[in-house]
Amino acid sequence: KTSPRMREVMTSLTRHLHDFAREVELTVDEWTEGVALLNWAGQMSNERRNEGQLVCDIVGLETLVDEITYKKASEATDLATQSAILGPFFQTDHKVRKKGESVIEKLPEDAQVAYVHGQVVDATSKKPIANASIDIWEASTNGLYEQQDAEQPKSNLCGKYYTDENGEYAFYCLRPTPYPIPYDGPAGKLLQLLDRHPYRPAHIHLIVLAEGYKPITTQIFDKSSKYLDNDSVFAVKDSLVVEFLPRDGDDKAKNQLKYDIHMAPL
Ligand code: DHB
Ligand code: FE
Repeated sequence: KTSPRMREVMTSLTRHLHDFAREVELTVDEWTEGVALLNWAGQMSNERRNEGQLVCDIVGLETLVDEITYKKASEATDLATQSAILGPFFQTDHKVRKKGESVIEKLPEDAQVAYVHGQVVDATSKKPIANASIDIWEASTNGLYEQQDAEQPKSNLCGKYYTDENGEYAFYCLRPTPYPIPYDGPAGKLLQLLDRHPYRPAHIHLIVLAEGYKPITTQIFDKSSKYLDNDSVFAVKDSLVVEFLPRDGDDKAKNQLKYDIHMAPL
């Protein structure tokens, strides 16, 4: 839709594209290859595969846009939990699960289970926030999210939780493992041509929402994971790196993580 903002964005995009072509002296053949790559990305994409997003992500564009958006949104407080990119695998219809329930519906043989718990609090007053929702999703040990993998039952490794009256949440999940982003398409081809690996460090995705607070889309990263300093999609922030500890006396999980989430008032 035409608007002053739309004109501003398109005018600037066009100017920068022209500058880019002049700077590298882009040839017709090279431009044709670029167009073929865009078309390939479009052809590959469906509800389970967002190749356009992957291509943006490997050049850091989603991370940059995330940074710009939330810098603007959170001038009021630097105390809140930092954001990180949504990524291509969020599903909007996560099963609502009770506090303490597991997201694991099919346990892979090579998996470690973790108990993750903590409090959602007001970033300034530190008062607990009751009834905040926490969506979480993660890949299995084969590197695939439920919707990418016919072998996983629906709702495996994802869920939506609500904090109790003390602002507390808890769930069991897989201790996350590093895995490659899908690399059999144009994003993978580009990584290969640039001698880059497709791996992401072990992470869990979160979206936290509470009435009267700024929404948080983020990821937490396992401190012991490989690829923390060379994530293929540039999403790692120091404050989002967490330490899983051994857990005793719980036959459901050998690992645990206490993680509090700090929300900025609207
Ligand atoms: C991307 C993000 C993810 O969290 C993931 O699991 C795979 C890919 C991405 O940003 O492209
Ligand atoms: Fe992910």
